[in-house]
Amino acid sequence: MLKIENVSVYYDKAIAIDNVSIEVKYNEAVCVLGSNGAGKTTLLNAIFNVVPKLGRVVLNNIDITNTPTHKIAKMGVVYVTDKRTVFNDLNVYENLEIAAFDIIKSSGRKFFEKNLSAIFEHFGNLEEKQKLKAGYLSGGEQQMLSVAQGLIRAPKLFVMDEPTAGLSPKLMGYVFDIIAFMKKQKMTILIVEQNVNKTLMATDRAYIMEVGKIKDSGNSKDFLDSESIKKAYLGG
Ligand SMILES: Nc1ncnc2c1ncn2[C@@H]1O[C@H](COP(=O)(O)OP(=O)(O)OP(=O)(O)O)[C@@H](O)[C@H]1O
Ligand SMILES: [Mg+2]
Repeated sequence: MLKIENVSVYYDKAIAIDNVSIEVKYNEAVCVLGSNGAGKTTLLNAIFNVVPKLGRVVLNNIDITNTPTHKIAKMGVVYVTDKRTVFNDLNVYENLEIAAFDIIKSSGRKFFEKNLSAIFEHFGNLEEKQKLKAGYLSGGEQQMLSVAQGLIRAPKLFVMDEPTAGLSPKLMGYVFDIIAFMKKQKMTILIVEQNVNKTLMATDRAYIMEVGKIKDSGNSKDFLDSESIKKAYLGG
């Protein structure tokens, strides 16, 4: 479904990611793990053309190496960045509506309402708060809302950068439940996380990144308590 081939990113002259190749197959959940500064966010930004890169990116056999970010977004792909994207002055419902604006136009409001009820089932008390301005939500709730804004688009490929960062164990639990829900909906998932064990349990395959390079890859379950993981995080 998604192929990243020999991608490198330079910031000025420093190399942030060096010849990275990863693949995400249809209906797979793949994670990229690695410590701070390993280049995980840079990799996602390179896929979506937020930063200039060398190499090639292919989505469903279409070369998207040079496709502008907003056009990739129209190809059934959602990228939830590590920055929250909620509009503080709009309420929760309006935030979801605006995130799906073009989808409502093309697929109709029924499609939106159907997705909305599925989302409310999985996002704790978001439904009760749908009339509340997003600015009044807690930071963690805003983060959940930005994941919900991605999900409301019912993407084929869902890419997330550290969705659980800073969340309470309860909200974190919702995020991992939602990942299981996405898999059931036949979505394909690429997730960057620091929450190693939970992410390994929720995904099929893992890539381990260390200072800009992929150091190891394989089935997620095989990395639970592995030396590769310890080395990537502790540098040992
Ligand atoms: N805009 C930029 N200009 C210069 N250097 C950058 C820029 N963005 C990131 N870097 C550098 O590139 C490297 C990789 O950063 P990146 O944000 O991709 O890491 P990360 O794995 O996402 O880390 P974290 O887990 O902390 O989010 C780091 O050394 C970082 O300092
Ligand atoms: Mg990052």
